[in-house]
Amino acid sequence: MAKFRTLDDIDVRGKRVLLRADLNVPVKDGVVTDATRIERLAPTINALIEQGGRVIVMSHFGRPKGGPDPAFSLRPLAQPLRNAIGGREVIFAADCIGEEARRVVAALQPGQIALLENLRFHKEEEANSPEFARALAELGDVYVDDAFSAAHRAHASIDALAHLLPAAAGKLMEAELEALTAALESPTRPVLALIGGAKVSTKLDLLRFLISKVDLLAIGGAMANTLLLAGGKPVGRSLCEREMTDTAREILALARYRECRVILPEDAVVASELAPGAETRHVPVDAVPSDAMILDIGPQTVARINSALTETRTLVWNGPLGAFEIPPFDRGTIAVAKKAAELTQTGKLLSVAGGGDTVAALAAAGTTEQLSYVSTAGGAFLEWLEGRQLPGVAALAATT
Ligand code: 3PG
Ligand code: MG
Repeated sequence: MAKFRTLDDIDVRGKRVLLRADLNVPVKDGVVTDATRIERLAPTINALIEQGGRVIVMSHFGRPKGGPDPAFSLRPLAQPLRNAIGGREVIFAADCIGEEARRVVAALQPGQIALLENLRFHKEEEANSPEFARALAELGDVYVDDAFSAAHRAHASIDALAHLLPAAAGKLMEAELEALTAALESPTRPVLALIGGAKVSTKLDLLRFLISKVDLLAIGGAMANTLLLAGGKPVGRSLCEREMTDTAREILALARYRECRVILPEDAVVASELAPGAETRHVPVDAVPSDAMILDIGPQTVARINSALTETRTLVWNGPLGAFEIPPFDRGTIAVAKKAAELTQTGKLLSVAGGGDTVAALAAAGTTEQLSYVSTAGGAFLEWLEGRQLPGVAALAATT
């Protein structure tokens, strides 16, 4: 991993710190439904304030169409942010650049923080515009990026801005990069990658990269159905990408060539409909009835993955192993999550997980706190698993 500066390497006393955060949190009817990203940002804000900095938080929120849109305002995030940082006052600026932003920043009192309006209300943000970055840079003396989960976006507040001011990674960015490096760049072997989710087609690059990196690859979720079909198994009415079977065979051949052992489901929980409490059957994968759908891995597959885990030193996990949102199809994912948690807690396993659905599944299994590291990132975590260089990480490395 490239070297980058952290909060220990910069002096923020008396300075204005422009902090790129990711406050893109799920909100329903004006209420934050999962505050994880806000909570994980708090240590960085607190540290900067304690070191005497004046903190100016900037973030995107949702995907507005490049102009102001009240539905995507960050204003409702001011109070949840305040709650997460021990009640320190959060002053909201109704624009992220210009007169309004300058006024709020200039009036900041010690201990207060500013929250700027959604960066994406200016289309120049996503265009990585140098002029927009300069307008942001006017507001600060140093730049701290704590938005690992947005590091896959080469946007002005992430890329261009990092080159205009002395830049450093915040604590969350640092923790994310350390965890991912420990899991993939210099891991203790054997390494097992556990990959689930709906589609092979969205995870091709990821599978190819992981095959070159890990010792074992276990696949669940509906994407396993495509691999099973490619191996001549009957998948009934299961969710499956029939046009991807050639590609699936190539992936399996690549795994053989790279001597990466692949664990595919050997049994499945099937039902005729995906509905809560649906009547289920448990069948070997070569006996899936033509009118049934595979909705979870079966107990033998769980046992096989769990036994592989006991032989593993490092786990990288992305994607649920079944239709976990709808019980009882969450059982496979929960059973494997519990095993990973137990092995992690007894010091036998380093476990790193990430990606939107994965995080929700681990939270539902009640194991989030018991794994070594659960990333706050969705897309950025996936791109890291594809072996791609993330613009936000590259920009930090380039400035040291
Ligand atoms: C995320 O939630 O994945 C990040 O905040 C990035 O958001 P985006 O996909 O809208 O760029
Ligand atoms: Mg996203």
